[in-house]
Amino acid sequence: MTVPTDPSRRLAPVARLAPAKVNLTLAVLGVRPDGFHELHSVMVPTGVVDWLSVAALPPGGADTLHVEGFDAGPVADNLALRALRTARQAARDAGFGPDAPPPLAVRLEKRIPVAAGLGGGSSDAAAALDAALEAWGVTLDATTRHAIAAGLGSDVPFFLAGGPALAEGRGERLTPLPWLRGAADWPDRPGLLLVTPAVALSTPAVFRAWDAGARAGGGAARLASAHLADELRRGALNSEMLLTRASVLAAANDLAPAAAAVEPALVPFKRALLRLLARPVGVSGSGPTHWALYASRAEADEAAARLRAAVASGELVAPGPRPPFIEATVITAPAPESQP
Ligand code: C5P
Repeated sequence: MTVPTDPSRRLAPVARLAPAKVNLTLAVLGVRPDGFHELHSVMVPTGVVDWLSVAALPPGGADTLHVEGFDAGPVADNLALRALRTARQAARDAGFGPDAPPPLAVRLEKRIPVAAGLGGGSSDAAAALDAALEAWGVTLDATTRHAIAAGLGSDVPFFLAGGPALAEGRGERLTPLPWLRGAADWPDRPGLLLVTPAVALSTPAVFRAWDAGARAGGGAARLASAHLADELRRGALNSEMLLTRASVLAAANDLAPAAAAVEPALVPFKRALLRLLARPVGVSGSGPTHWALYASRAEADEAAARLRAAVASGELVAPGPRPPFIEATVITAPAPESQP
């Protein structure tokens, strides 16, 4: 670790975009002795992002958090604030005085639906950790950064690493994956449609439903997940080929039956989406976000407009007190030089 040599550097505000993720596959392999579940999942970042910035406050006070956009729950429980506390402790352990580094004011614009299977809270935590270290001018080695992230939550290391990855173990054991062939030349391909009904699903509750037997069985998700990870690793897929895998991938989420057991209204909702979109529809993480792949962002935009019209006319009835979040976006590929 290094500590800053130029104290004025600490005063510069630092901004980060915190992306939502989608699980293209999610196989649950079993329960571990610690109660967590052993996973095999291909995860990708998307263009739907929270905006986060941190700015140094005068010494002596506490970190603050100001949230706009979606309701992220009580500020005191926010994982981004926990990330700052852990990062500060790591900085102190490694050479700052007991009163340093300074408190930070965090501003968070939540554009990612909360408790939606999109990893928004975990992404905010990774962004806060990274931004705080930069604001303080602290460099931690990769192992320490990963350990802090894994301590904050199973998905946090994925967001800290950035880019498509195979996630195993609790979700924290990552193998970065190259993205699609030609992705850099076609940043608008494939298109991704996200549809999140306004029902917050608790991840522990969905895993408990899986424990209680709400599962498909048969191991198809694991096979699909291993196959996708292998094809990406070998650089065997381009955007068109990914689309031909869409029906297999959409079925490859072992938590989908458990999410439907927790929120039964998701069953008719998904049936309605399938009818309106006429293409495979998958579930991300522990739900309730549904996703569909399109040849391009423009096609996903058209589909989003159609769905919004169907909601407005009453043709699509979504569970929850508000209309669903409907957004066309893309899977964000890293620049070619940073591809593994
Ligand atoms: O790691 P994180 O705090 O995000 O996990 C939230 C909850 O989801 C855990 O408390 C656990 O109930 C469940 N979980 C699990 N197996 C995983 C990841 C999460 O059972 N691999």
